Amino acid sequence: MKKNKIFVACDSTSISKIKKIIKYTSNTKIKIGYKFGLEFLNSKHGRNFVSKLKKKIIFADLKLHDIPNTCVSTIKAIKDLKVNYLTIHISSGLQALKAAKKVSGSIRLVGVSVLTSLDNKELKEIGFRNSVKKLVVHQARLAKKAKLDAIVCSPQEVKIVKKIFKNEIITPGIRFKSKNNDQKRVLTPKEAYKNGSHSLVIGRNITKGDIKKNVKTLIDHLNQ
Ligand code: C5P
Repeated sequence: MKKNKIFVACDSTSISKIKKIIKYTSNTKIKIGYKFGLEFLNSKHGRNFVSKLKKKIIFADLKLHDIPNTCVSTIKAIKDLKVNYLTIHISSGLQALKAAKKVSGSIRLVGVSVLTSLDNKELKEIGFRNSVKKLVVHQARLAKKAKLDAIVCSPQEVKIVKKIFKNEIITPGIRFKSKNNDQKRVLTPKEAYKNGSHSLVIGRNITKGDIKKNVKTLIDHLNQ
């Protein structure tokens, strides 16, 4: 499950939009997984739709951030969905991570480090004293301690994370088109793979506008 996957972030509440995303991205030479986050899984028909998906790599980006007991019961509550990946914020704390790992079974438990939409200035604003880099390194150590299956960080931090965390490294904050939107710590897909990312998360650069054309642009970019 480690090598060169792209998780397409299915961020929408519209079933027809998600069907379109799956249709136009599944028959490519790239190994694709589908990431469903807070928006889709909280939408009226989202959970049911995901429960019926067959033969797809499914990534539930629930970003659990709670006390150990609640994290554990949430994992138990989504077991029927048969997802392959599930996210939990590393800042939930080591006890929560360990407790979650104990019950996650065959689900790959993914620790989310500092969000790719944050920079040093914003971290300070929240009350953190460390820089993004220092905090990500610190959290990579926690992820290792909790024996998590994967970690999420920005592509800019992969090299330093790799020195500590030996399992799968997944990077959002990917841009092959000019617009950064709300993301701060971004790189291109090629740069991310070059730095050592195993899997990328790409949302709007694929799903906004002409999906077919976007996929072609991505493949051309990767083949350059
Ligand atoms: O559209 P874009 O490519 O920016 O989407 C990135 C996706 O990755 C979103 O679904 C976002 O929730 C998720 N994500 C992120 N940064 C993290 C963790 C997850 O952008 N640190």
